[in-house]
Amino acid sequence: MDRYAVFGFPISHSKSPFIHQQFAKQTGQQIRYEAEEVRPENFDAAVDVFFKEGGKGLNCTVPLKELAYEKVDLLTERAKFSGAVNTIKRQDDGSLLGDNTDGIGLLTDLRVNLGVDIEGKRVLVLGAGGASRGIIGPLLKEKPLAFYLANRTVAKAKAMEELFAPIGVVQAGSYESLHEHQFDIVLNATSASLTGQLPPLADQLLAEGALCYDLAYSQEPTAFMLWAQQQKARLIKDGLGMLVEQAAHAFYLWRGVMPNSQTVLARLKQKKQLTDKSG
Ligand code: ATR
Repeated sequence: MDRYAVFGFPISHSKSPFIHQQFAKQTGQQIRYEAEEVRPENFDAAVDVFFKEGGKGLNCTVPLKELAYEKVDLLTERAKFSGAVNTIKRQDDGSLLGDNTDGIGLLTDLRVNLGVDIEGKRVLVLGAGGASRGIIGPLLKEKPLAFYLANRTVAKAKAMEELFAPIGVVQAGSYESLHEHQFDIVLNATSASLTGQLPPLADQLLAEGALCYDLAYSQEPTAFMLWAQQQKARLIKDGLGMLVEQAAHAFYLWRGVMPNSQTVLARLKQKKQLTDKSG
């Protein structure tokens, strides 16, 4: 049976094994997919062992995506720009191809699952770390009307502005610099949600009917999602849809078959509701 895995640290709560097993069942593919806890210092050796033992493909999650970028032999165009790799495929000649399906995963969730187009919208991305770098390129290609990037450390946002200049215009600045602006779509790509924190966001930042999207997913609404509620956003979402869609694109890269992500997303939502009810 072809072997796949997700490496990360921590990894015990990963939904990826469930998602990929569902995709395999659905498409009649025989695969094994496991989650393995791998610390950054062991990443290099763990990848070598995995592929030496016949592994076909790997997902890499926090905090290993930048290491995966360094590790692979060649990169897809979208991985090159994102500076991070979340999917590795062992090719027939034994070389490792690195891809990044996070951006396309987010876009698919926005467009297909939520019916939201980026074109012509005023978009604000919060955060200028790895998560944000993975999504900026694909978002810019959708031709937003305006694209802002705010970060606590302004120099990091400015560096992104420069990096993505060949693709489109990023207006980078501090959270304070957003005061005079309003946005149709606000995407939280900071890691603040993981510690229950919120970037310093002003009131009146949201245009009428705005979408607020947290790239993180969690059992409870994040601080950003609660802020969005207060600010009367029309649509408030966490990153569960993005997680399933990035997985679907990874599965496609490995197996050449596009799974039906919607049924798997529906099952995950159902599971979440059951957990909520049982406390
Ligand atoms: P990731 O790969 O998850 O993006 P990262 O590269 O460490 O992780 O980046 C974390 C991002 O979240 C950064 O943009 C960080 O801001 P700084 O660059 O100023 O450090 C942002 N971040 C983390 N905690 C935050 C908080 N409490 N308020 C605002 N921004 C925060």
